[in-house]
Amino acid sequence: MKCEIKKADCESYIGEVVSEKIDLTFLDPPFNQNKEYLSHNDDMSSSEYWSWMRRICGLVYKHTSKGGAIYFMQREKNTNSVLDSLKSTGWEFQNLIIWRKKTSAVPGAKRFGKHYQIIAFFTKGKSPRVFNRLRIDPPLLQNQKHIRQNGIYITDVWDDIRELTSGYFAGGEPLRFKNGERVHRQQSPIKLLTRIILSSSNVGDLVFDPFAGTGTTLIVANQLKRRSLGIEVDQTNVNFIKDRIKEEREVDNIFKFRNEYINTKNLKNIWPFDEEFEKTGFTLQEHLFKKNVKHTNLC
Ligand SMILES: C[S@@+](CC[C@H](N)C(=O)[O-])C[C@H]1O[C@@H](n2cnc3c(N)ncnc32)[C@H](O)[C@@H]1O
Repeated sequence: MKCEIKKADCESYIGEVVSEKIDLTFLDPPFNQNKEYLSHNDDMSSSEYWSWMRRICGLVYKHTSKGGAIYFMQREKNTNSVLDSLKSTGWEFQNLIIWRKKTSAVPGAKRFGKHYQIIAFFTKGKSPRVFNRLRIDPPLLQNQKHIRQNGIYITDVWDDIRELTSGYFAGGEPLRFKNGERVHRQQSPIKLLTRIILSSSNVGDLVFDPFAGTGTTLIVANQLKRRSLGIEVDQTNVNFIKDRIKEEREVDNIFKFRNEYINTKNLKNIWPFDEEFEKTGFTLQEHLFKKNVKHTNLC
């Protein structure tokens, strides 16, 4: 299955590297917060930054299949600009997802603490070409008495995915240099990409990430048997992505999340089963145990 990373500036190269239609894009650009990037100026003027984002949204739109999807992640304070960048380049609104990150809020002395990031979900045309209605089974609330038979549909508030913060809770997932330092402060969790890719693509579709960072999108797409293409401007990141794809780290194995979606009607089609597992006759838990994959909600 194609799983390809290109070292390039995405704006200049989208047209050159994308020869087939894109079915799903995860757009997680630098947030222009004057963060330290190896090969990027994260301190542009606001108008310069947002006209860049509009150009990227327009280019991705041009290369997207009819009904294809884009998920644009940003800080909540930029919601207006995100929606404007997408609408003005032809995209149709589907959802504004609130990703409540399971980590402490950023405190504010004169306003409420900030506890979420936004992910704008838009499609090319009103009707998505793929939308798989995933079901999960979160813990019951105190006032909910009846045990669910087959879970619930996911809503536009995602509060079960942990951000890869610094320190202990970042766990083993972040890529690190030999001295233990994180390679990339903005690495997205594999659990987030698992949800996005399962929802808005099918097996064999082309998943695109113009700001690939550590390659999370590619790592997940590959396991879900989607084709994938990433662009990343920084050579160090590109090297780490190549190693990450080759290495198949156990901590990047998304199989541990499969049980959470077990109530989804077409799960077998959108997340093809490990044939080796099917033949064994083991239960999923036994299989995970054998593969030494911890089934956890903590990631
Ligand atoms: C927020 S990070 C993406 C993190 C990614 N989602 C992950 O899971 O690792 C944005 C990335 O865009 C890259 N970048 C910045 N300018 C770029 C450009 N013009 N073309 C391609 N990549 C670029 C940065 O080097 C950085 O790695």
